[in-house]
Formats: sequence, structure tokens, C-alpha cells
Amino acid sequence: MKKVALTGIKPTGIPHIGNFLGAIQPALKLSETCEARYFIADYHAINTVKKSNVIRQMSVKVAAAWLACGLDPEQVLFYKQSSVPETFELSTILMAYTPKGLMNRAHAYKAILQSNAESGKDPDDGVNMGLFTYPILMAADILLFDTDYVPVGNDQFQHVEMAVDIAQSFNFIHSCEAFKLPQALAHEQSKTVVGLDGRKMSKSYGNIIPLFAAEKELRKLIMKIVTNSQTIEEPKDPDTCSVFALYKCFATDEQIKALRQRYLAGGMGWGHAKQELFEVMNAQLSPYREKYNALIQDSAYINSVLQEGSLKARELASQKIKLLRGIMGID
Ligand code: TRP
Repeated sequence: MKKVALTGIKPTGIPHIGNFLGAIQPALKLSETCEARYFIADYHAINTVKKSNVIRQMSVKVAAAWLACGLDPEQVLFYKQSSVPETFELSTILMAYTPKGLMNRAHAYKAILQSNAESGKDPDDGVNMGLFTYPILMAADILLFDTDYVPVGNDQFQHVEMAVDIAQSFNFIHSCEAFKLPQALAHEQSKTVVGLDGRKMSKSYGNIIPLFAAEKELRKLIMKIVTNSQTIEEPKDPDTCSVFALYKCFATDEQIKALRQRYLAGGMGWGHAKQELFEVMNAQLSPYREKYNALIQDSAYINSVLQEGSLKARELASQKIKLLRGIMGID
């Protein structure tokens, strides 16, 4: 029996290189060996995004991005969270098995409390109940599908652990094994993808390279990568250089070795190194960019893929809900 891998993708931004290397590629790799269920977490997004056109467009764009990167809807159950209402029934069920104190301990919630305290605001300023109960909805996403593995970034580990706690609480109270206990899988690379300024690539730092940047823009951004002021003649250290760090993510072993030697030998300027980086990145990314640009013109196709996925997801989900209802005495 194949293991089940599940992850949610919040439709709050078009992916950048960090997302691609750190989340999309590893998840697609995992889908080769697991039964994968990947979904657009639109009901998680509405906690922070209230503009209907943004939610609508981002959902389509993010779905198009994953399809462009090679997600095969024949292999992966690909759907929108909002199209599987069983999720929300399960979320309500799980509320009754989740101590409020568990939610109080969520890092994301605690960070808001702290920043409110620092700026002298009411502790719960700007916190809606969707934000407060975020980990419960996420637990519902995960537990609905007998998930074994949840590939996520480190910031989501605590949420997966909470899903385990909630599942155990239900299983214990009803002396059953209705819920499988999931395990978070680290996105190893996400830590090491550097942005234009040498810090981790992140939307909040404003240092990203968009995954589908047009050729010209891609080149322009790469030329902006911060380097030191060494002259052309000086030998350079590849291991402390952001250009080289990104090069390693896209080049072959031989290319990496060759560029390393050019760094160490001296006589190569930053402009040359950046041009090399641009060439490998552009060669690798242009097929994805073309596919994305074509897909985004065809939202009817994207919606039909998601629709089909949600039908299959609902079949599985409704069986689970039926079982749970029976266990609780609600039938
Ligand atoms: N909270 C996740 C994030 O912010 C998105 C998400 C929602 C998710 N539901 C999930 C991830 C279920 C894994 C499993 O990135």
C-alpha cells in the first residue's frame, strides 16, 4: 500500500524560486512514490485576504503554477479546499476535541500577541477566530484523508504536531483508530535558497526572483544580486557568494565544478558569474514559464481539473465523515 502525502497551498502569492526549489519540486518528487493529495487552501487564505478578486485570481494562478511545474492531475488528487465541504464538517467536529489551551500555544498566534503587546495594543487586536483556529482547519485537511506525510516548511511543523494531538484525543476518547497519525516532512532545501540580498528568499524580505519572470526581468533581477566589491582580477570565494549558491541549485555537477574553478582562479568579474547563472536558470525555467503563460489563458481548463479532483476527494471524504458520525452517535 502506497503512503498518502498531503499538502495545502495557500493562494496568497505566485511562487518564487524559493517556493519552487523548496516546496513545489520536493512535493512533486514525493508524488512519484506516494498517493498525493495537494490542494489550494483558499479557506485558509480568507483569514487574511478579504478581496474576492484576489482570492479568485490567486487560486487559479497558483493552480496553474503547480500544473506548469509538472503536477500531473492523473497522478495527484488536485483540488480546492473550498470544493470539499466535508473539510468544514470535520473542522467543526475537531473543535470539540481541541483544548483551547492548545490553540493559545500556536507560534503564529503567539507572535501576533507579542507584537500587539510591544505596540501597546489590545492582545487580540487583528486576530479573527479563523486565525485563532487555523490549526484546527489544517488538522481537518490532513486527517480527512488518512495522511501519512505532510511535506511543509519548518514554520508549519507545529501545526502538524497539533493535528497529531487532536487526532490522538479523538482516538483515545472513542477507543478507536479512526484517525491515522500524520508526520511532517521537512523541505530541506527551503532553508538554503538565498534571495537577492543574501538572506533567505522570502516574499516578506522583498528579495525574491519570481518563478515565471520573463527572460528580461529574470536577467535584470540576477544582475541585482548583492556581491562584494572585489575586482575582476581577484580570486573569489564561491562558498560565501549568493550567485554561486543559486547556481548550485540549477547547474549540473560539472558546470558547478567548472564555475568553482573560475571563482578560485581570479580573472572573472561578478557580471560574468551572473551571466552564467542567468543562462542555466533561464534554460531550466523557460519551459515552465511558457507552460504557465499558456495555462493561465485557459482558466476553464484549470477549473475543470480542480473540479474533477474535488469530486474524487469528496468520495473519500464523505466515507470518512460517515464513519466519524457513527463513532460519535450522530447518524
Ligand atoms: N498552513 C499551510 C501554509 O501556510 C497551508 C496549509 C493549509 C496546509 N492546510 C494544510 C499545509 C494542510 C499542509 C497540510 O503553508
